[in-house]
Amino acid sequence: MQYKNITITDNGYGGYGVGTLGSGKKVFVPFAVTGDVVNIELTEDKKNFSYGKIVEIVKPSLLRDEEPYCPHIGVCGGCLFGNIKYSEQVNIKKQIVLQNFKDFEGFKIDDIFVQNPLRYRIKCSIKLKEGGFGFYKFNSREFIKVDDCPIISENIIKKVKDLSEISQDLTELNFIENTEGEVISNIDNIGYVAFDTFFGELLVSANSFFQGNRYLLDKLQQKACSLIGKGGNILELYCGNGFFTVGLAKSAKAILAVDFDREAIKLARLADIQNTKFLRYDLNRHFAPSFKFDSLFVDPSRQGLSKSVIKLIRDKLPEEIVYVSCNPTTMKRDIKNISEFYNIREFYIFDMFPNTYHIESVARLERK
Ligand SMILES: C[S@@+](CC[C@H](N)C(=O)[O-])C[C@H]1O[C@@H](n2cnc3c(N)ncnc32)[C@H](O)[C@@H]1O
Repeated sequence: MQYKNITITDNGYGGYGVGTLGSGKKVFVPFAVTGDVVNIELTEDKKNFSYGKIVEIVKPSLLRDEEPYCPHIGVCGGCLFGNIKYSEQVNIKKQIVLQNFKDFEGFKIDDIFVQNPLRYRIKCSIKLKEGGFGFYKFNSREFIKVDDCPIISENIIKKVKDLSEISQDLTELNFIENTEGEVISNIDNIGYVAFDTFFGELLVSANSFFQGNRYLLDKLQQKACSLIGKGGNILELYCGNGFFTVGLAKSAKAILAVDFDREAIKLARLADIQNTKFLRYDLNRHFAPSFKFDSLFVDPSRQGLSKSVIKLIRDKLPEEIVYVSCNPTTMKRDIKNISEFYNIREFYIFDMFPNTYHIESVARLERK
């Protein structure tokens, strides 16, 4: 069913443009931009809201980028904000965060860190098929072949091109590029490479998580580590290969750092990180360490903190918590869950994923 002249009033988390149908029902439209007037077709009609797709842009938003950097924007599932001017993307992300935390009295964003929005990605997964490479179309399993991906580093693209020449059936490979420009994939014989960060050398592999934005990762590391008080014991949860641990360890008395990824913990233990015990443990399970800590540092994946971590916080009530998050929705849920005990003292946004809808935030919470 088609609807004409729908005005897009908002871009929400998830990247969709939001409009209202004549019935008053909200409709979520991918690749629509705040300020657009569009004709749409409904793709899914639910009880309280619908999804639609653009059939025609009647009047384009002034926020749209007139010369998008990639011909696949609007089709490829990678860059949902790629058709929006970069400064406006940042503004939209800021509004999403402010809206998300609107129930927290006095909430403010202290700073937003941005950098070059192209060629920033040094950690990614890419699909190879029939002598080429590419990605899935938005919301589908349909492969689209591309010649380039302008948000990924040149060195990774070069390696993908070399590998894809011999590919036939669909395969997905993981890549990481280190600070020397060396690229490894998960089919290489070499398991890991050294990576220089502001606080010291780490070991990274193509299979384990690593911060993906080469221009902002040092700043993120410095800022997040600077928010924790010096000289105390720190419990660090979701530590990965030690990206923050290496900085926290410079001024902590002792750290217990926890993650369930076998490879990440192996790499963390191999790096030269002082005063730290790395523990491999699934934080979805009951967790009650005997380690006494003054501060808590957490950096969970999109799902946010597990119930057992929330329980641990409520039982131990550390003086301060630094929460690094890639999902403002679960971050808000978790902070709300402990808000009777904590105030948000500082809040930062790092645009680690330009041109996508993803938002990285860092909050410092202090005991009331
Ligand atoms: C966003 S990454 C952060 C990693 C690290 N702090 C960094 O900046 O590189 C989230 C980490 O949480 C870990 N993780 C996810 N679920 C977990 C769980 N249930 N128990 C323990 N670790 C988990 C992942 O293995 C991953 O390393």
